[in-house]
This record gives sequence, structure tokens and C-alpha cells, in this order.
Amino acid sequence: MKLIAVLGSNRPGSVSERAAKHFIDGAKAAGYDEVRVFSANDMNIRGCRGCGSCRKNDTDCVIEDDFAKYLSELKSCDALLVTAPNYYSQVAGPMMTFMNRHYCLTRKDKTQRLRPGIKVTGIFAQGAPEDYPKYPSTYEWYMGTFAGKGMENCGMLIIGGDSDIARKLDEAYEMGRSL
Ligand SMILES: Cc1cc2nc3c(=O)[nH]c(=O)nc-3n(C[C@H](O)[C@H](O)[C@H](O)COP(=O)(O)O)c2cc1C
Repeated sequence: MKLIAVLGSNRPGSVSERAAKHFIDGAKAAGYDEVRVFSANDMNIRGCRGCGSCRKNDTDCVIEDDFAKYLSELKSCDALLVTAPNYYSQVAGPMMTFMNRHYCLTRKDKTQRLRPGIKVTGIFAQGAPEDYPKYPSTYEWYMGTFAGKGMENCGMLIIGGDSDIARKLDEAYEMGRSL
């Protein structure tokens, strides 16, 4: 089984990345023997042009950049992990650009081009405490955009910064193991 992880933080010692490593270890224990890790900040992913070519021609995105490499892996994977820091109350920019580019996976008639049932999980790190009420709806919306492509939303982990990480690593591992 194959897992793809797309990491959205560029911060040394990143909380979301540390949790992602535990999630991946859990997934490996569950039988995911193939793991591909992408770092959104190291990838050349340009913004969606809104050209509509994908929908008009029923094709992948016409932009030739690193999103195409990710997309070819996505098509043959069983599970996807997306992680992001919260910047200014939102999923950080590179992961928004990354998410926008999935537009090409929906056809003009609103059917999906992706094989259904890929399991998607999110890990989100924020400076505010985990239970800060303003943010879950933002992360849920973000996860919903992947579910809208026919993926199965397997939930999310919200981590309230460096002070919260220690007690969240086991939870991250379990989320991976229960994939
Ligand atoms: C530019 C910037 C904006 C931020 N904005 C917020 C914010 O609006 N709300 C919040 O709770 N934390 C905010 N933070 C804190 C980060 O979300 C927090 O440090 C988180 O742990 C970063 O994730 P990472 O460790 O995976 O990089 C911000 C941090 C930066 C650098």
C-alpha cells in the first residue's frame, strides 16, 4: 500500500512535520510499505491559472511543474497526508496553492477523475491552543476540498504549537496505524 505525505511547513523543528513523521511510522506499521514525502516549500508549484483547459479537455493540469509529479503518485496511492501550519488564521500559503491545483480532478459534469476512496488525513499546527474555536472550521473546509475529489476524509489532528506536540505524537502515530 502506498502513502503520500505533503508537508506544508518550512520551519526548522516544525511541529506539523514532527507529527507527520509519527503518522508515517504508524502507517508503516499498518502495512503502508511505500511512502512518498513531498515538501510543498521545496516544490515548484505555480498557482492555478484558471484557464479551464483541464475541464474543457478532461485532462490533468497543463502547467508543467512539480504538481504533475505529485499527481502521478496520487493516482496510484491509497492514502494521502496533508500538513500545514496556521498562518494568519488560515492554512499557510503553499498548501493553499497546492490545494487549488486539484481543480483539474473534477470534470465539467462534476464527476471526479480520481479513483474514489483515497484516504486523506490532515495535520494542522497553530500557535493558539488546540481548542481555540476559530480554526477547526477552516481546517474542515480545507479537508472538504479533498473529500470533494472523491477522497475519504479520515479526520484531522490539530496541534496547539510546541507546548502541545509531546502529547500529540502518540495520537499522530495511532491515526497512521488505523489507516
Ligand atoms: C507568519 C505566521 C503567522 C501565524 N499566524 C498564526 C495565527 O493566525 N494563529 C495561530 O494560532 N498561530 C499562528 N502562527 C503560529 C504558527 O501557526 C505555529 O508556530 C505553528 O506551530 C507553526 O507550524 P509548524 O511548527 O508546523 O511550522 C503564525 C506563525 C507565523 C510564522
